[in-house]
Amino acid sequence: MTTKTLKDLYIHSLSDIYSAEKQMTKSLPKMARASTNPGLRSAFETHLEETQGQIERIDQVVEASGIKLKRMKCVAMEGLIEEGQEQIAEIEKGPVLDTALIAAAQKVEHYEIAAYGSLIALTKQLGETTAAKLLAETLKEEKATDEKLSLLAEEKQAAEALGK
Ligand SMILES: [Fe+2]
Ligand SMILES: [Fe+2]
Repeated sequence: MTTKTLKDLYIHSLSDIYSAEKQMTKSLPKMARASTNPGLRSAFETHLEETQGQIERIDQVVEASGIKLKRMKCVAMEGLIEEGQEQIAEIEKGPVLDTALIAAAQKVEHYEIAAYGSLIALTKQLGETTAAKLLAETLKEEKATDEKLSLLAEEKQAAEALGK
């Protein structure tokens, strides 16, 4: 057992989300390629760029907190990505796959929102104010992405109802 203190938990949680973000940089291009809807494709491309920035931001957090990340794999993200990949393999490209991709991406965003929310609470408890501010910027991006995906889903439903 190497996790004993809140600081240990902070390092563990930050290492976990670091792995999750790294995995997403490989998954988002695949999701973009699988999308038919241009808005959805561009949302994935934009979020890929943001995700690269989020990884750099974690590097800044590591420096601000004077810690070292653990080498670990976020198995939760691995599972979410795997489910998305399964749908890409099983569903023909088009509106149905787009809907499945939106749902898969929103599951990822909700996981990230929960992870960053808990991390921010931990940094506040530990008095890591710089880290808290940096992580809050990322949390804002995750929430905005989730909202963008909800909007895309609504627009899609409206267009399909009109028979477009
Ligand atoms: Fe992210
Ligand atoms: Fe995200």
